[in-house]
Amino acid sequence: MTSGEHWLDPISIGTVRIDFPCALAALAGFSDQPMRRICREMGAGYAIGEVLLDQLVIAVGRRKQRRYLGVSDDEHPLAGQIMGNTAEDLATAAVRIVDSGFDVVDINMGCPVRKVIGRQRGGWILSDPTIALEMISRVRDAVPDAVPVTLKMRRGMDDTAEGETKFWTILDGAIERGVAAVTVHGRTVQQKYNGPSDWNFLAKVKRNVGSKLRIFGSGDLFEAEDVLRMLRETHVDGVTVARGAIGNPWIFRELAALLHGQPKPHPPTLAEQRDFFERLFAYSVEVYGEKRAPSEVGRHFLRTAMRHHPQPNAVRDALVAAGSRGWETVLEQWYPKNES
Ligand SMILES: Cc1cc2nc3c(=O)[nH]c(=O)nc-3n(C[C@H](O)[C@H](O)[C@H](O)COP(=O)(O)O)c2cc1C
Repeated sequence: MTSGEHWLDPISIGTVRIDFPCALAALAGFSDQPMRRICREMGAGYAIGEVLLDQLVIAVGRRKQRRYLGVSDDEHPLAGQIMGNTAEDLATAAVRIVDSGFDVVDINMGCPVRKVIGRQRGGWILSDPTIALEMISRVRDAVPDAVPVTLKMRRGMDDTAEGETKFWTILDGAIERGVAAVTVHGRTVQQKYNGPSDWNFLAKVKRNVGSKLRIFGSGDLFEAEDVLRMLRETHVDGVTVARGAIGNPWIFRELAALLHGQPKPHPPTLAEQRDFFERLFAYSVEVYGEKRAPSEVGRHFLRTAMRHHPQPNAVRDALVAAGSRGWETVLEQWYPKNES
């Protein structure tokens, strides 16, 4: 690859500048502050926090503030994502997101979880452009002009022509109301995670909006090479890496190399994996405290081991035997300190 390709230029989302177009996606249970910090250290140019229910954001007290709304100095630019079913509560939550230090407010219009849809939140919003646009207007009006408002959308509720028409109605209305960027996941809400993400749809979206709106592509970015392919094939401005980053924050250092025309770095050594767990633990202690941090790291440990340890099944068995809080014992046993 040659340097000078379009994705090497910084992107601006309104007033917020992103120097590298590969972001850590919004990932409930995974894009919390410790993981966001690590992915940024590995090269991600941006991150979107886990989805937060508007009611939670509004009501969260001092004790849990750090856990849900904490932002560390080294993770800007950063988006906070909110989800709700009334424009009013969403707008109130948006203000709190901004007051907490997030640089961008992202509205979730994509979550396909049945309970969420049943409560007319997340992906359900795509079925009602009037409500969607009211939410956008209220949130846009509630936060300062300098704070960008962005959306996360799937390509529709379902595969019907009506579903697609509603997508375009919301997208056009979003541009009129000053939305700065939209992340499009190329699956429908009904599709959940079955079948492929439709990248042709992403290309169509980018073609249609031109320079009026920044588009981040999402869906089926499992390896660094997939990201390159998406950027080339669809011409989206950036990508959000989701499942491809779970257990694999190194995908961002691979992307940094590949997008700059350098060879793909070696897979993480055991020492590098060990360093990841130790840093994740240190950051988790800051956010969750000593007592809860081990189980938070445990969640990432298994996925990382399954992906990168040469004896994944043995590590998995050791983790099961040790329990989710026992990962430190497994670390000592299976991740030598000076291995390279
Ligand atoms: C465990 C998990 C949690 C997710 N949480 C969120 C979320 O909080 N907000 C959101 O907008 N999307 C969420 N997503 C969707 C991802 O951001 C992404 O759009 C989707 O996984 C498609 O990308 P992929 O096929 O590359 O994984 C989540 C996905 C997964 C697998």
